[in-house]
Amino acid sequence: MYKHVSYLWDDAQAAALSGNEVDLFIYRSNILGADLRITNYGGGNTSVKLQDKDPLTGSETEVMWIKGSGGDIGTLKKSGCAALYVDRLRSLTNVYRGLEYEDEMVELFNHCIFDLASKAPSIDTPLHGFLPFKHIDHLHPDAAIAIAASKDGEQITKELFGGLIGWVGWQRPGFDLGLQLKACLDEAASRGVQLRGIMLGSHGLFTWGDTSYECYVNTLEVIEKCAEYIESKTKTVFGGARMSSYSPEERAAKAAELAPVLRGFCSSHVQMVGHFSDDERVLQFINSNDLDRLAPLGTSCPDHFLRTKISPLVLGSDVSVDALTPLFEDYRIMYGSYYDSCKHANSPAMRDPNPVVILYPGVGMFTFAKDKQTARVAAEFYTNAINVMRGAEAISSYTSLPRQEAFDIEYWLLEEAKLQRMPKPKALSGRVAFVTGSGGGIGKAIAKKMAQEGACVILNDVNADRLAEAKAEFIGLFGKDVVSTVIADVTNQESIEAAMKQACLDFGGVDLIVNNAGISISKGILEHTQADWDKLYDILVKGQYLVSQAAIAVMRKQGLGGDIVNIVSKNAFVAGPNNVGYGSAKAAQAHMTRLLAAELGPDHIRVNTVNPDAVIADSNIWAGGWAEGRAKAYGITVAELPAYYAKRTLLNESILPDDIANACFAFVGGLLNKSTGNALNVDGGVSAGFLR
Ligand SMILES: NC(=O)c1ccc[n+]([C@@H]2O[C@H](COP(=O)([O-])OP(=O)(O)OC[C@H]3O[C@@H](n4cnc5c(N)ncnc54)[C@H](O)[C@@H]3O)[C@@H](O)[C@H]2O)c1
Ligand SMILES: [Zn+2]
Repeated sequence: MYKHVSYLWDDAQAAALSGNEVDLFIYRSNILGADLRITNYGGGNTSVKLQDKDPLTGSETEVMWIKGSGGDIGTLKKSGCAALYVDRLRSLTNVYRGLEYEDEMVELFNHCIFDLASKAPSIDTPLHGFLPFKHIDHLHPDAAIAIAASKDGEQITKELFGGLIGWVGWQRPGFDLGLQLKACLDEAASRGVQLRGIMLGSHGLFTWGDTSYECYVNTLEVIEKCAEYIESKTKTVFGGARMSSYSPEERAAKAAELAPVLRGFCSSHVQMVGHFSDDERVLQFINSNDLDRLAPLGTSCPDHFLRTKISPLVLGSDVSVDALTPLFEDYRIMYGSYYDSCKHANSPAMRDPNPVVILYPGVGMFTFAKDKQTARVAAEFYTNAINVMRGAEAISSYTSLPRQEAFDIEYWLLEEAKLQRMPKPKALSGRVAFVTGSGGGIGKAIAKKMAQEGACVILNDVNADRLAEAKAEFIGLFGKDVVSTVIADVTNQESIEAAMKQACLDFGGVDLIVNNAGISISKGILEHTQADWDKLYDILVKGQYLVSQAAIAVMRKQGLGGDIVNIVSKNAFVAGPNNVGYGSAKAAQAHMTRLLAAELGPDHIRVNTVNPDAVIADSNIWAGGWAEGRAKAYGITVAELPAYYAKRTLLNESILPDDIANACFAFVGGLLNKSTGNALNVDGGVSAGFLR
């Protein structure tokens, strides 16, 4: 029955909530938010008004529950709502001093709180509060914004809905906009017209109903009708194609090649993480004749440009560093003059002037932000903006918000206060870590530590099962955005180069390499075969060389420095029997640390070593007979091994994977920024292994 929106109402689920209007409004919110065509992430808000007992008087009073500031309706829970006394909210008209004083009203919303566990009421609260309807949706559907942001939006809205959808021209959300919505409704009523919704110019849609279900259906119908209308008018999209896309493989190759270079430019103020999308809708826009006309206009809906900056950077065909340098300089100058020409006396200081969205015709769209989720969401928002431009151009012509309006939202003091309240970035925020052999054991512990400290991590292993298990665990702990996995053998140059390409596509590049993959073979010299020898040297020595080489190429393109940490072993320094292959390979790994540290200083790439010893827990190296063999040799059980090894240390400590992870973090977390070519033993103290 609907083509452009998903109808997700489930009668049985709703029946189970029957009688509880708050639950029904949350249910509706969640199914609306599940469809990105209906509203963008975090965009819009929903509400319900009901009678409740006032704890202060014991009598019935009208209470409005509304999505609180900063939430997303798709995942809204009761705890994410604000509940306010409706009469108190409306009585604020008595103290409202006019447009200049919008900000002080936000403070006053807190005086209207009914439910003490409320989230902070958002700036859209009065928009819902002044409308008399029980259930209200305020959404940012691409199809509605396309009409709202087109030159003839008001006329089109009127004709399309036969006057049943009202129109309020663009204005920043706040108390006054709430009053305007009410005035629009009253004006229609004075003509005997009962509106079913109101379109907000350059912004979005208001729709309502007496029950949660009626509201839901009204909302879907209105959006569907907008989308149908746009579809019926769509002929040539964006003035037709100016060029065709490269093949998917070529797009990925070109994007991976360029991502670290762009990341370097975009990180001139704060280190950024990247996201790449070559979604069909994006390609259609960036390959079109209208790209050069539409892209500089910027986005329309305030949500869009808050996330994407006023306009994207469009690349030409020459993407050499020489060609990119002036492009970025021009962008920063453009942003600086936007700031200078729009700023007020009390505006917050200018923020990072680098672009967030970068369009590469034929290839795709890059977005850069301080963390992966923000970068991904910026891409989603720009895709929304593209949908809006496509629709608006099909039915009329697209108009963006005036720069001053955009500025007043971007640098709104309340928005700035929100930014100031955000938690401080973690030590590794904005950094991308690649840990070899991190399907389990020490490698997994290291990757976990990096993720806990804010890094995006790429898990790697040859053991697909172990890697899949680690991936599921990491997604559970840290979410999908910051974890990526790649099955690759560190001895295979092609696979490793492909793995680095993946890092560039997934996160924009790589900053932090931990060479951890390893195996152990312990045999007397006469039993030791050439095959054993080659295997040890391939994985431990050649693997470390190949991974470092491929990563350094990416790091140099970024120009942001970097870290390489090599997991070596006490056996690199302490000679024992039955260890000729493993021990000498570990010694080669240790010396490679020093050699690369010497070479990479000018690039600000630090190279350091961590030497574990006797880490038994979760180690595959110790499984498979090795631990039994050791235990038997010492005349103890496997369970007694950790204590036995601990006794041999100066501190009488067992060494755990987390101890090694902490040592790696010590090298890369910031405190040891001026150390390179160093080594750190994590072995509980073994005097034979003391470094000289
Ligand atoms: N566990 C210890 O006591 C100890 C002591 C000193 C040094 N180390 C070193 O620490 C590192 C990790 O050891 P662990 O104890 O966690 O061992 P582990 O066997 O549990 O983990 C090593 C991981 O590397 C992976 N791997 C092996 N070959 C690979 C290849 N070619 N490409 C990609 N991945 C590969 C394995 O599948 C495994 O998941 C090794 O370099 C090891 O030599 C360990
Ligand atoms: Zn809105």
